[in-house]
Amino acid sequence: MQNTIQHILEKETFEKPDLVALLSANEEERKFIFEKAAAIKEEYVGKKVYYRGLIEFSNLCGKNCLYCGIRAGNKNTHRYEVEEQEVIDAARYAWENKFGSVVIQAGERSDKKFVDRIERMVHEIKTLSNAELGITLSLGEQSEETYRRWFEAGAHRYLLRIEVSNPDLYPKYHPHNKKHDYQARLDCLHLLRKVGYQVGSGVMIGLPFQTLEDLADDLLFLREHDIDMVGMGPYIEHEDTPLFKYKDQLLPKMDRFYLSLKMVAILRIMMKDINIAATTAMQAIDPLGREKAVKVGANIIMPNLTPTKYREDYLLYEDKPCTDEDAEECSRCLEARIHMAGGEVGYGEWGDSKHFENRKKEED
Ligand code: 5AD
Ligand code: SF4
Ligand code: FES
Repeated sequence: MQNTIQHILEKETFEKPDLVALLSANEEERKFIFEKAAAIKEEYVGKKVYYRGLIEFSNLCGKNCLYCGIRAGNKNTHRYEVEEQEVIDAARYAWENKFGSVVIQAGERSDKKFVDRIERMVHEIKTLSNAELGITLSLGEQSEETYRRWFEAGAHRYLLRIEVSNPDLYPKYHPHNKKHDYQARLDCLHLLRKVGYQVGSGVMIGLPFQTLEDLADDLLFLREHDIDMVGMGPYIEHEDTPLFKYKDQLLPKMDRFYLSLKMVAILRIMMKDINIAATTAMQAIDPLGREKAVKVGANIIMPNLTPTKYREDYLLYEDKPCTDEDAEECSRCLEARIHMAGGEVGYGEWGDSKHFENRKKEED
């Protein structure tokens, strides 16, 4: 079997059966995948890890994804919206501490007040930082016009996870209505590209009913859609969600963690010059989760800049780390962690997706 894994790793392009075999690799075999991924990372994107200071702007959400702790139907969540001034202060902190970029993330809403507020904040962050701070948005499905307005205000990257790329599985994790439509989500990814964003997507790993074949398809989806940045991590059950009832069917958490790590490493081998995030969900399972992800291919970390008093309310899943720490503690902690993983922080740099830049060059 080891031979098979090594043989597959020598291939130029992975087909679906190759991916399934790689995802099945055992403890001994997975080392070969990790070594190869680390070498490719070093060669194509280097040692630098870029910061995206994360501002969890609001947990108000109009949707009801069956896995998510802040779904509209969860009445146990106390809802909040961070004050505009606090967002601006967090962004200024990021800029002064040479973070390079911020991410504004929130539950999904499309009301005028929300759209206007985001536009205004993006504009203000751009202005206060002399356009030095990069801005990523992660605010769900929106109209082309909204995407365009936010882009023109100064955001240049957008994260929209497809969550599961298999359209037949999508309804297992989402209510069956127009608000939760696979095709609409896919259309949004295309709109984002059309408007000019660097486009990020990703999936959850270890969901109930999900097979290794499905995960192989997820990797192929990311390649086929030529995604510039990827954030993916283990599914972690949350008590106050409908999906919680399947908890006994899940892989043990550590298995979900290693499956996620293999996904990161394999994706790095497949898509050499993209940006890949070491996600917080990985650290929710393994205290060294993000460092391990950095070692095998991730080059983006999102230190949490949400004012501490709101953090307990942005619990998408259980055991989310960093809910008691403030921005300073997290960034100090992360720097030490990145050094431990043999990386260095790309302070003051945007660290844009090289993949995006390379595609742009080809188009010109
Ligand atoms: N476990 C892991 N990730 C989750 N997300 C939402 N709920 C969970 C969960 N229970 C992820 C989704 C979403 C991102 C913001 O958080 O992939 O896109
Ligand atoms: Fe809302 Fe996003 Fe959670 Fe779905 S995953 S319920 S859209 S915050
Ligand atoms: Fe938040 Fe370590 S990254 S405490």
